[in-house]
Amino acid sequence: MLSGKSLYIFIFFGLSFVTSFPIDLVGRAAFEFDIYDHNIKVENSNPGPGEQPWSKRKDLLIESIRNNTLASPSLVGLQEVLHDQLVDITSGLGGSWKSLGVGRDDGKEAGEYSPILYQDDVWENLNFTTYWLSPTPQVPSKGWDAKFNRIVSVAKFRHRATGAQLHYLNTHFDADGADARLHSAQEVLSIIGNFTDPLPAYLSGDFNSQPTEDAYKTINGTLIDASTEKSLDTGFVETWTGFNNEKQKIIDFTFYQSDHQTTVINHDVLNSNFSGLLISDHRPLLTKFSLNY
Ligand SMILES: *[C@@H]1O[C@H](CO)[C@@H](O)[C@H](O)[C@H]1NC(C)=O
Ligand SMILES: *[C@@H]1O[C@H](CO)[C@@H](O)[C@H](O)[C@H]1NC(C)=O
Ligand SMILES: *[C@@H]1O[C@H](CO)[C@@H](O)[C@H](O)[C@H]1NC(C)=O
Ligand SMILES: *[C@@H]1O[C@H](CO)[C@@H](O)[C@H](O)[C@H]1NC(C)=O
Ligand SMILES: *[C@@H]1O[C@H](CO)[C@@H](O)[C@H](O)[C@H]1NC(C)=O
Repeated sequence: MLSGKSLYIFIFFGLSFVTSFPIDLVGRAAFEFDIYDHNIKVENSNPGPGEQPWSKRKDLLIESIRNNTLASPSLVGLQEVLHDQLVDITSGLGGSWKSLGVGRDDGKEAGEYSPILYQDDVWENLNFTTYWLSPTPQVPSKGWDAKFNRIVSVAKFRHRATGAQLHYLNTHFDADGADARLHSAQEVLSIIGNFTDPLPAYLSGDFNSQPTEDAYKTINGTLIDASTEKSLDTGFVETWTGFNNEKQKIIDFTFYQSDHQTTVINHDVLNSNFSGLLISDHRPLLTKFSLNY
């Protein structure tokens, strides 16, 4: 007879052998997926010093998304995306890529989107909502001391091949209003706290908040910052570079919930400078998670 422990080890290796997804000791499967996050910089008809127009930046920017989402099931969160930029990116990616999201100015196509992109043959989108970061989250609105309307895109997905389900939120906090950033952090945590299903939540975006600031500290008090979990393979630490050799900053993050069996496999700040052509004033983030579901 196998003892309890050997039986578990037997089940572990036995099941690992017959499925392509490893099974842990309590019978959950480990599902690995990536989140690619990038503030792509809004299309500017009057580019500043060092800034190339969108027409010159877009091909390499799309290639970076494609390159980094080839190997694993991936969810992509972008910021500062105008409608025509979104059309360029989804059509450039091709295949079954789709986008979720609305323009922040009218809830339709006006103003910047914080869209979520996914491959429809990999993921089933189960739900999607846009909340405005303001005291009136259901309607296009500006909150507190913010300069612009701000939004968070909230999606629920099911990975088709494994059945794994999760929530993914993508956002962009105000650059000017520190009070708005703090309230936005609280609102996003409240949205996550109000989910009625026990699925893990992942949050990425441009928080316009450095690790020393209140908005970051508020989120980091509840969720875990993936960049604190793994060393950075690429050597890049700062996520904002500017276009003109400015002082670089860390303001983009990917967070996850601690209580849902998630581990960070890898977290990288990616290159954005291709022989002097900067695809944006931010570097992309690529985080590989393992979820026991
Ligand atoms: C994409 O991958 C190819 C092949 O590895 C590489 O040559 C190219 O520089 C990459 N492009 C970007 C934008 O990452
Ligand atoms: C979908 O999102 C809405 C708005 O957040 C929420 O009320 C509803 O419960 C969600 N439904 C599912 C199935 O998650
Ligand atoms: C979360 O639920 C509480 C209680 O129903 C509600 O007061 C709050 O507005 C909700 N948060 C958001 C961001 O919708
Ligand atoms: C985020 O919170 C963790 C856990 O409390 C802490 O160890 C870490 O230093 C915080 N990160 C930063 C950048 O302050
Ligand atoms: C981009 O790379 C070029 C060299 O190819 C370098 O001169 C320039 O300083 C870099 N720009 C930034 C913002 O890192």
